[in-house]
Amino acid sequence: MQRWTMFVSTKMPDYVERDIAAAFDATLNTTGEKLSTEQILKGLEGKQAFFGGVGDKMNADFFAKLPSSVKAVGTYSVGYDHVDVQAAKAKGIAVFHTPEVLTDTVAECCMLLTLSVARRVTESVALMRDWKGWTPLQLNGVEIAGKTMGIFGFGRIGRAIAERARGFRMNVAYSDLNRLPPDLEQGATFYASPEEMMANCDVLVIACNSTPETRGFINRQRLARMRSTAIVVNIARGDIVNDDALIEALQQNKIMGAGLDVFNNEPNYDPRYKTLPNAFILPHIGSSTVEARRRMGQILLEGILALKDGKSARNRLA
Ligand code: DGY
Repeated sequence: MQRWTMFVSTKMPDYVERDIAAAFDATLNTTGEKLSTEQILKGLEGKQAFFGGVGDKMNADFFAKLPSSVKAVGTYSVGYDHVDVQAAKAKGIAVFHTPEVLTDTVAECCMLLTLSVARRVTESVALMRDWKGWTPLQLNGVEIAGKTMGIFGFGRIGRAIAERARGFRMNVAYSDLNRLPPDLEQGATFYASPEEMMANCDVLVIACNSTPETRGFINRQRLARMRSTAIVVNIARGDIVNDDALIEALQQNKIMGAGLDVFNNEPNYDPRYKTLPNAFILPHIGSSTVEARRRMGQILLEGILALKDGKSARNRLA
């Protein structure tokens, strides 16, 4: 059977590029240069599939201008807030993403963020540049054992985080649109009201999708309900947090700290975060392990190949 042609917008790890080239007649991005939407649309002329990523805005205008040869669009991410799935559906274009395969990697990153804030890693790293020696007063953080982690968004990733939190002997609470069955809750306390959960937890983890309902959800009023010892962790999307509100809470020590892997307006995130000793910040590395990267490529390719062969795929969004 004839192979499909594919255009890849972003430089991929070698092992992913090899998998792509094994299955498609692919045009790879070999330079690592960030392509504009116009360059992507041009590259897609005559191609059947697109292998894109979180940096590529696939909005209604993108789908309106997409060459008619394109049958499938893939995003190398589990999040798809940058893809107008309805616009793709309306044009009969299949959309794929990378669920399941990065769950463990992201959950591990969540614990990294949580512990880094609890144990004051930003200040510790700074102190190592001019360390005067151990004292009992030095950078005392807090234990997470016995504390409550409240997880906002209890999908696959939220539940994988809960599993790890239990390993650290934390109590787990969650808030989502609906209460889950006991086998998925695993003893976690359900809060129908996220505000109530925020008022009753020590670590708030944002693990929900970015949707019109969740954008800007972490605002001044809601942060004001949190304990002064609380930690906010965001491994989902930057736009769920109102930066002015969170930065004010951190500057005025209204909460203990924040661990952030994602930001509004990446990569040009609010520079005030760099100056905050109680913020531990990472450059969106939540899914950055070789294991996850490899599996993300594989599931995306499998989905598009399934479409080509007239089969269904578990990672198809439209
Ligand atoms: C995702 O998968 O949505 C991450 O944020 C980027 O890989």
